[in-house]
Formats: sequence, structure tokens, C-alpha cells
Amino acid sequence: MTIDPREFRNTVGCFATGITVITTLDTDGAPIGLTANSFTSVSLDPPMVLFCLDRKVASFEAFAVGKPFAVNILAVDQMDVSNRFAKSGADKWDGFEYDTNQDGVPMLPGSLANLECRGDSIMDGGDHVIVIGEVERFASAGEDTKPLLYYRGGYNEVAS
Ligand SMILES: Cc1cc2nc3c(=O)[nH]c(=O)nc-3n(C[C@H](O)[C@H](O)[C@H](O)COP(=O)(O)O)c2cc1C
Repeated sequence: MTIDPREFRNTVGCFATGITVITTLDTDGAPIGLTANSFTSVSLDPPMVLFCLDRKVASFEAFAVGKPFAVNILAVDQMDVSNRFAKSGADKWDGFEYDTNQDGVPMLPGSLANLECRGDSIMDGGDHVIVIGEVERFASAGEDTKPLLYYRGGYNEVAS
């Protein structure tokens, strides 16, 4: 069966997701961040999450088993943050203020929620890999803070 990549993308894009920025440090200790909507929770006990990482992204080598990373779940007013980290290049951090956790991993202020993780395993996923992390710490904003959503290739928000 021949799959048309555009139609496949359009079809999986019918699944509405939140948007995250996954952060870590590269081998030189420089901040790494990329926008990702492939995030999902995996296990409650132990607490585990995953995201899918494109083999072609510049930050590919920054993710490894045993290394810390963070998942920053974006709030509805962070569309500019999503766009900033969806671009490649170290200058994506220019003029961007952020906190760091105890491992030095960037934590994006104003996020709806943050999960601090440690790489548990990295599995083959075709042109992506599946990065599974064990959650070590987490926090979320109050219910008044709404999520930024992604649906059919565009940003969206929850009806309230
Ligand atoms: C809404 C949205 C969701 C994305 N989700 C993912 C994802 O789940 N995994 C991924 O590897 N890239 C994803 N990307 C693309 C990366 O954010 C993009 O390739 C980024 O430039 C990678 O940065 P880097 O090359 O500096 O590592 C997404 C982009 C957007 C706009």
C-alpha cells in the first residue's frame, strides 16, 4: 500500500494535542529546547512519560539515557514560545529568560506545567526515536491557566 505523506500527516493531525517545549543541556552545558507535541504519559508507577524525537533535529545528540530533561507544557499565551523553539539554531535562546532546575536544565517560566525527568530508554521509532523518561519532580499552575493546543496543523485553545 502506498502512503501519501501529506494525507498521513493530515490524518494524524486530527488528534488534538497540547504543546510542550522539551529542554535539556548539550554536552557543553548549553541550553537545548525544542517544541514537541508528541508528548504523552506512559506509566503511573513508576511515573514515566515519552516524546518522539526527529532523528534530523540539531538537538538529537543532547538526549541520552541517564541524562536529565524537562517537559514544559505550554499555556495558551505561550504561542510565541512554541514558535521560537520550533526553529533550529542556538539563537533561539537569545533574549529569552528562564529558570534552571537542580540539574541546570532550563525551566520555562509561565508554563502550564513542568515535569523534570531523567532519560530511561530510547527506542527506535522509524525516522524518530521514542525518548522515555522517568519523572523525578513535577508542578502545575492553577486551573485558571489554560493550555495551548495544536490541531490540524494550527494552534487552538479549549472552549470554556
Ligand atoms: C507544533 C509543533 C510540534 C512539534 N513536535 C515535534 C515533536 O514531537 N518531535 C520533534 O522532534 N520535533 C517536533 N517539532 C519540530 C521541532 O520543534 C523543530 O524541528 C525544531 O526546530 C527542532 O529544533 P533543533 O533543530 O534546534 O533541535 C514540532 C514543531 C511544531 C511547530
